[in-house]
Amino acid sequence: MLQRIVKPVLVVVFLLISHCTFATEGMWLPQLLSGLNEKEMKGMGMKITAADIYSINKGSLKDAIVSFGGFCTAEVISEQGLLLTNHHCGYGSIQKHSTLQNNFLEAGFWAKSLNEELVNPDLFATFIVRIDDITKAALRDVKPGMSESERQSAIDKRLNEIKETTKKESWQEILIKPFFEGNQYFLFVTETYRDVRLVGAPPSSIGKFGSDTDNWVWPRHTGDFSLFRIYAGKDGKPAPYSKDNVPLKPKYALTISMKGVKKDDFTMVLGFPGRTTEYLPSEAVKQTVEVLDAAKVEMRDAALKIMDGYMRKDPQIKIQYAAKFANTANYWKKWMGEMQGVKTTDGIGKKLRYEASYKELLNANPALKEQYAGVLDSLNSYYRQIQPYAQTRDYYSELVKHVELFDVSDKTIAFLNSVNDKGANQYAQLKEKFLTEMKSFYQNYNAGVDRDICVELLGIYNKGVPAAFRGGSYAQIWRENNNDSRAVTNILFTSSLASYDQLSKLLEQPYANVYAQLKEDPAIKFSMALRNTYVDQVSKPLSTLQAKVNSLQRTYMQAQMDVFAGKKRFYPDANFTLRVTYGKVDGYSPRDAVNYDYYTYLDGVMEKYIPGDYEFDVPAKLIELYKKKDYGRYGVNGKMPVCFIASNHTTGGNSGSPALNAYGELVGLNFDRTWEGTMSDINYDPSICRNIMVDIRYVLFIVDKYAGCTRLIDEMKLKG
Ligand code: ARG
Ligand code: ASP
Repeated sequence: MLQRIVKPVLVVVFLLISHCTFATEGMWLPQLLSGLNEKEMKGMGMKITAADIYSINKGSLKDAIVSFGGFCTAEVISEQGLLLTNHHCGYGSIQKHSTLQNNFLEAGFWAKSLNEELVNPDLFATFIVRIDDITKAALRDVKPGMSESERQSAIDKRLNEIKETTKKESWQEILIKPFFEGNQYFLFVTETYRDVRLVGAPPSSIGKFGSDTDNWVWPRHTGDFSLFRIYAGKDGKPAPYSKDNVPLKPKYALTISMKGVKKDDFTMVLGFPGRTTEYLPSEAVKQTVEVLDAAKVEMRDAALKIMDGYMRKDPQIKIQYAAKFANTANYWKKWMGEMQGVKTTDGIGKKLRYEASYKELLNANPALKEQYAGVLDSLNSYYRQIQPYAQTRDYYSELVKHVELFDVSDKTIAFLNSVNDKGANQYAQLKEKFLTEMKSFYQNYNAGVDRDICVELLGIYNKGVPAAFRGGSYAQIWRENNNDSRAVTNILFTSSLASYDQLSKLLEQPYANVYAQLKEDPAIKFSMALRNTYVDQVSKPLSTLQAKVNSLQRTYMQAQMDVFAGKKRFYPDANFTLRVTYGKVDGYSPRDAVNYDYYTYLDGVMEKYIPGDYEFDVPAKLIELYKKKDYGRYGVNGKMPVCFIASNHTTGGNSGSPALNAYGELVGLNFDRTWEGTMSDINYDPSICRNIMVDIRYVLFIVDKYAGCTRLIDEMKLKG
């Protein structure tokens, strides 16, 4: 009797828990959906099957998704290989084709015919043909008690064999990646197309509307999209660029739904998320937000303030530093959101409670207890030990990233090494190559900005990094300058590397003189002292500790999977491989009394409009369309939808990913997350984690009504 009463209650409780905590978290492997997720996805409203998403026997959704250049995602949206991705993913290509007279970033670009589509030599698009689990074969020679390096070479040997013997077509490639911290291995058969041409891009005032102020922010009004096309050889196979190449006939092209989405609708996102760390122990989460993020934010705060000050005063510097500023600001803002998000959702408390239940279950199971006793405590303790080294690593990497003189020094050292290797008789030739590269670097360089950044960041570095890690030749330079970062900086900037003119003049001399002078150059001497000290005192001990952490982290990963077997589903951390994530369209409440709706409209673009502003200007043509409500078939009830949010679990690399509805039709284009939820990379929380998508109808409206590029609309499959 008791049982009968208790059982349904338990089931309800379990459903509630699993609904709240697991339903939208996870970046799942597409080939495992049928076993792990299909039922839940259908329960959430999905109307297609797992085999419609991933199949090796027929064209499926995965055949429309590509890794775009290795850093973003894109999807095929026509039978002629048309690719949709973000504006910020195509940005580099659009920039490379831009000149002062023809600035496509500013004015947008629309190829009127195939002939006008623009070639991008370094860009590629990679399809996933098939995914195989090769864990058993990969780990066959791994024995307990092996050191990390023994283990790795035993695995590498097997992986090489597997690569050699795996069946594939001649134009295909093989990629193998570790999952679950190296507990599992999967093999990907891929097809990479290297002729990917630029087809269309809106002006930045649409594609980057809101810029850094709105970056990571909801409500959002950015038309963050651009269009490319994959070209193939006449046989349809990957081929290097040739004017004779033809638009790719894809295995699968997405159908586009004109219906939009409403609250609680099922959505899924397919793409190539880059990096997450969801299975860290509590000590590591604490360290990430309280120490590491804080160090990086402190450095970037200072660098951004200085750039901003100069950019406001000097229009030339504004152009030179715009891209650097945006780049630095992107993760600066993300880390601040992450620090706050972990706090508001009690991320550390959640981890501690998770660890308590892990220990409870572990201790209740003698076999597992014997296998994994002490692993978690030991891992947490290693994280405590690694902290000063990890913190210094982050200070160091921010320092050398943001003081550009160190970067020039490194490039110059590499140049000198190459002349020394190849012989001084190659000097003239190598010099020309080096100077060409440096010329384009100095075009966007201002020594005044760099000097001020150097003073500040060196000061922060010395305050933040323990003295024990700042010894050796580095300490000596400081002693010689009364430990004053301005004095050190002043000496550094007497370097001939501080301007292109000085550098090129110096290089006019015979190589022996050049070498002798550069060896004594203050910037080169300092950056070598900085690096050598760092390598000796930090990175060497750090890599020993890191190997220990990695090995324990791997064991802890397996331990979690064993201890929670049947109680919790596990998905592997993001590693730039194809994943499926699903959730529901929904607003959120980030703070007391604040409730965000899940849709934005063109009206909101006009509310943000600041004429002439570099972030919030709106093109005249768009204002005109807005005034006339000339939305064609893309508007709804007299309004033009722009962006929406949902609880799909995404990260960097998911930009450009398609958002699909219950029928697997394209409804949106993923490009960002909401700021309050950026801690989803270490601790996803369904209450505030949302991904941001452009409504596909806004994309079509811009292509059709704004740009008049109807030839592109004609090749798409629009439905509804
Ligand atoms: N926050 C988005 C993503 O990493 C978009 C970044 C590009 N936009 C910008 N304003 N910087 O990465
Ligand atoms: N904006 C990111 C990207 O570029 C996506 C994200 O972090 O949510 O991939």
